[in-house]
Amino acid sequence: MERLQKVIANSGYCSRRKAEELINDRKVKVNGKFAVIGMQVSDKDEIEVEGNTIAKEDKVYFLLNKPRGVVTTAKDDKNRTTVVDLINTSKRIYPVGRLDYDTTGLLILTNDGELANLLTHPKSEIEKVYVAKVKGIVSYENIKKLSSGVYIDGIKTAKAKAKIIRFDKDKKTTIVELTIHEGKNHQVKKMFESLGYEVLKLKRERESFLDLQGLNVGEYRNLTPKEVKKLYGELNSKQN
Ligand code: URA
Repeated sequence: MERLQKVIANSGYCSRRKAEELINDRKVKVNGKFAVIGMQVSDKDEIEVEGNTIAKEDKVYFLLNKPRGVVTTAKDDKNRTTVVDLINTSKRIYPVGRLDYDTTGLLILTNDGELANLLTHPKSEIEKVYVAKVKGIVSYENIKKLSSGVYIDGIKTAKAKAKIIRFDKDKKTTIVELTIHEGKNHQVKKMFESLGYEVLKLKRERESFLDLQGLNVGEYRNLTPKEVKKLYGELNSKQN
């Protein structure tokens, strides 16, 4: 038995908070009767949200090494290849968070709405490690600025870790590793932009304890049950 709002969130229909709202607004029925927040339901119960029956699907979790030129969405209105197209599954999965069209690297895809909501919740502060190839020679002074916070769209970014991996003095480029725990839109590119640098290439190498070991670009694997449990453990500890 599980709490109703959790089951609705797990189905990917909406967040747990939104599910509570819908229950309060009498938009959720269990076995044909109006539901109440916190009620326990099992697999045998028929759950209807805004007239839609909630499907009970096995949860699946994938870790993809996203290539460039693939869009991070489940469906693209311009008919471009999506990250979901790269994964062979009959389940209705979606990406957790987003990587830009030209960004490569680690992306989680799942049909577990609860995990997706937790991973993208600002409170979760999941660590994400990016490696950026930047046009120009990045100064140590600017590395310090990236670490202590820069203004993007008028808001200061949280403390981060930035370090120079190497310079290419001939081509005038710098490879920088940037570790952040926020998820603002185009955050890494905008952080560099705020200091006058253009990001030429961007790759996400790590998210929490998950990395790309053993995965070439375009390849993916399932998360192990142990990894899923560990992720939930980390995320739930941050919510309290
Ligand atoms: N930051 C960006 O600018 N782009 C991404 O794809 C991810 C983080």
